[in-house]
Amino acid sequence: MKSLVFFCWIVGSLSGQQLWPVPYERLDRRPDVDPYCQALYPFCPSGDPDGRIPVMTDSDIISVFRLQTPVWEFKYGDMLGKFHIMHDAVGFGSARTGRNFTMEWYELFQLGNCTFPHERASVSAPFWCNQGAACFYEGIDDIHWKQNGTLEKIGEISGEVFNEMARWVQEDNKTGVYYETWTVKSDASANATTWFESYDCSQFVHRTYKKLLGLGAELSSQTPTYYTKIYLFSGEPVHLGNDSIFQQSSTKDLATDIKKFFHSFRSHQSFVEMIESLLEAFEKVVLEKTFYFYYNSEYWKLPMKYPYIKITFEEIPLP
Ligand SMILES: *[C@@H]1O[C@H](CO)[C@@H](O)[C@H](O)[C@H]1NC(C)=O
Ligand SMILES: *[C@@H]1O[C@H](CO)[C@@H](O)[C@H](O)[C@H]1NC(C)=O
Ligand SMILES: *[C@@H]1O[C@H](CO)[C@@H](O)[C@H](O)[C@H]1NC(C)=O
Ligand SMILES: *[C@@H]1O[C@H](CO)[C@@H](O)[C@H](O)[C@H]1NC(C)=O
Ligand SMILES: *[C@@H]1O[C@H](CO)[C@@H](O)[C@H](O)[C@H]1NC(C)=O
Ligand SMILES: *[C@@H]1O[C@H](CO)[C@@H](O)[C@H](O)[C@H]1NC(C)=O
Repeated sequence: MKSLVFFCWIVGSLSGQQLWPVPYERLDRRPDVDPYCQALYPFCPSGDPDGRIPVMTDSDIISVFRLQTPVWEFKYGDMLGKFHIMHDAVGFGSARTGRNFTMEWYELFQLGNCTFPHERASVSAPFWCNQGAACFYEGIDDIHWKQNGTLEKIGEISGEVFNEMARWVQEDNKTGVYYETWTVKSDASANATTWFESYDCSQFVHRTYKKLLGLGAELSSQTPTYYTKIYLFSGEPVHLGNDSIFQQSSTKDLATDIKKFFHSFRSHQSFVEMIESLLEAFEKVVLEKTFYFYYNSEYWKLPMKYPYIKITFEEIPLP
C-alpha cells in the first residue's frame, strides 16, 4: 500500500499534476507565536505549562470517553438550534487511581482568527494568528459535556497503550500547528473530490481514534457519531503562491485583490459575529464566485460553485 501511494506521488509529480486533497503540511517544530497575536482567553489554562501528560502504569485500565458540546455561543446565543457547531474532545479515566483527564485540540486565538487574517499597516501580507494546539488537563467536567452534548464511554485501553498515545500526541502537537476551518470540495455529492481537508478539533479526535485503533484498541459507540464540518464548494483550485505575492511588483494586482477580499472578512472577536459576517459575505462570494483560500501558508484561488458555503453536522463513524 505504502509503495503504491509513493508510486502515485512520483507519477503525479512527474506529470505536473496536483494531487487532491492537498496534503496538510507538517513542520519540524512549532514556530513561536508572533506577539501581535494576543489571546482574549488564555489557551489551556488548566493544562501542564509544558504540555506534559502523566505516565500511567502499564497494567492500568483506562476508560476512553467521547466528548462533545456545543460551542458556548451557540448554546446560549440566539444562534442555538440554527447551526450545530460542536466542539469535540476525548476523555480518559484511570481505574487504578480514579483520576480522569480531558484532551482536546483547539485554536490558540479562537476560530475567527484561524479563519480570517488581520490587516496590519506595517506588514504587506495579510497577517494570520492561526495556530491550534492540543490541550491535556486533569478532570472531566461531566455536566459541561453531558448537557446538550455527549459523554459516552467508547472503550478501554491499557496504561501502556495510553502512554504510547501520549507520545504520539506530543509529536502530533509539535508538527501539525495551523488550524484549518474549511473543508473544500468539488460539490455536495457523496463522491465529490476533496480539494482540502480541514484541520480542527474533530480531525484531532479522529486522528486519536485511528492511533488508538493502530495500537490495538477497540472503540465502539452506542449512538451515531456526528461532527461539524464547514464546507466551501469550488471547481479545481488554482495555486497562487505564498507571502511573496505581496512583495513582488509582478503580482501587485493579485495582492490588491486578495487584500480586498479579506477586508470584508476581518477577524472578529466573537464567533457569532464571524458567522454573521460570513452570511453577509456569502452574497459577495455568490456574486463574484471567487474565494481566496489559505492553506499550508500559501494562497489558492477557488472558483466557487453552488451551494458555495455550508455548515453541516454529519455522521462520521468511529474507525
Ligand atoms: C484575535 O487576534 C487579535 C490580534 O492578536 C487579538 O487582538 C484578539 O484578541 C484575538 N481574538 C481572540 C478571540 O482571541
Ligand atoms: C501543545 O502545544 C501548545 C503550544 O505550544 C502547548 O501550549 C501545549 O501544552 C501542547 N500540548 C501538549 C499536550 O503537548
Ligand atoms: C471524573 O472525575 C470527577 C471527579 O472525581 C467525577 O466527578 C466525574 O464523574 C468523572 N467523570 C468521568 C466521566 O469519569
Ligand atoms: C442546554 O440548552 C438549553 C437550551 O436548549 C439551555 O437553556 C441550557 O442552559 C443548556 N445547558 C447547558 C449546560 O449548556
Ligand atoms: C459519482 O460520480 C459519477 C461520475 O463521476 C456520477 O455519474 C454520479 O452521479 C456520482 N454519484 C453521486 C452519488 O453523486
Ligand atoms: C515563497 O515562494 C517563493 C516562490 O515560489 C519561494 O522562492 C520562497 O522560498 C517561498 N518562501 C517561503 C517562506 O516559503
